[in-house]
Amino acid sequence: MTGKTYQAPRGTSDLLPPASERWARVEATTRTLFRLYGFQEIRTPIFEARELFDRGIGEMTDIVEKQMYVFQDRGGDWLALRPEGTASVLRAFVEHHLDQTMPPPYRYFYIGPMFRHERPQRGRYRQFHQIGVEALGESAPEVDAEVIALGWEFLRHVGARGIQVELNSIGCPTCRLPYQGALRAYWQAHADKLCPDCRRRMDRNPLRVLDCKNEACQAVLQGAPVIDDYWCNPCRTHFEAVRSALAALDVPYVRNARLVRGLDYYMRTAFEMTTEGLGAQNAVLGGGRYDGLLRALGGPDWPGIGFAIGMERLMDVLPETAEPVPALAVMFLPLTEAARGAALQGVQTVRRLGIPTWARMDVGSVKSGLRSAYRAGVRFVVIIGEDELRAGQWTLRDMSASRQETLSPKEAVEAIRRALGLDALET
Ligand code: HAM
Repeated sequence: MTGKTYQAPRGTSDLLPPASERWARVEATTRTLFRLYGFQEIRTPIFEARELFDRGIGEMTDIVEKQMYVFQDRGGDWLALRPEGTASVLRAFVEHHLDQTMPPPYRYFYIGPMFRHERPQRGRYRQFHQIGVEALGESAPEVDAEVIALGWEFLRHVGARGIQVELNSIGCPTCRLPYQGALRAYWQAHADKLCPDCRRRMDRNPLRVLDCKNEACQAVLQGAPVIDDYWCNPCRTHFEAVRSALAALDVPYVRNARLVRGLDYYMRTAFEMTTEGLGAQNAVLGGGRYDGLLRALGGPDWPGIGFAIGMERLMDVLPETAEPVPALAVMFLPLTEAARGAALQGVQTVRRLGIPTWARMDVGSVKSGLRSAYRAGVRFVVIIGEDELRAGQWTLRDMSASRQETLSPKEAVEAIRRALGLDALET
């Protein structure tokens, strides 16, 4: 019978072994490292009320205007697949009154899929995965530096090379207003040289024009007013303190006065990180401060700061680990139906030692069994035929030496342990 075949939807992908193993290792590093900084894991639903993102991310952003997967469910509720994690984490924080029910620090991290209807290309997908952090209730500029340092340390730790941190302060609503006015006037004076996209948004969202990658716009951008001339005193002081804290933590960065972010909730500190091997437009990490967002979502008037890392982009630039851990180290090969029970017990014994083991239960010849062992890349094959079953023994074949001997299960397990070195498996 032949059937119709199906493909994963455009812009999504299957995560297959062995890549899935590499992802799991990066996720394990996340859990260890982020906890060192006091962040605890939080998991929120993959869809939320659409309005949460409209209000949280901003109705004039590309994400909300063009990229959200919005749908009405059978009960008539308007929902959206989450395009990012910040709004959801803050929603959960407010809903569960975590400010009253938990002791500080209010630091959370998450790992999971996000959805944006973008034009798929390298590093840009419709379902992608983020590792993100949110620190709530902490306003000191040292915290900005600490959060940036965490992102930087993490990228270094997992092996990213050529990490570049770009830093800016986009001011607060007070000082941003006159800056937006100045930008608007400047864009209007140069409107004929701007791309249609920028012309469309220069009035409504003048800051976003700063981020345009179009070459013609780039030329205009060079002469645009800079935020530094508009910062209020508290914003200026905050930014200076972030910079000296970063210096104290030895985190190198470059100031990019034109760095703005694609979500409306940011204020003051904004940052992105790129690495070697990514296109220049593709940040592997993006984040910033968002004081005011928690209140806007019905919570206490607490500040917040965080970032998210794009996992697909990260995995794309990480060098392949030199020696991948073999998925399976030992394979049991029962040669008769009667030997299957002994094989099943055998794999359990070996697995309890922490050694990945599998039994090929569909009984066949030794030759075909060894062929699948070879393809699976296992180091040892345990053959249990009629003779072994009768004698209560295993024939242990070392695939790397093409040598085999018949041993008691205890001796065989000892030989496997010795050869593999249990420590070496704990990667
Ligand atoms: P974002 O800059 O929109 O920020 O996304 C963060 C990262 O997610 C990007 O730097 C990129 O690596 C990855 N990313 C975004 N869109 C895609 C896509 N279509 N395909 C693949 N990767 C993508 C946020 O989402 C904020 N919530 C970050 C944050 C947390 N700010 C404060 N707290």
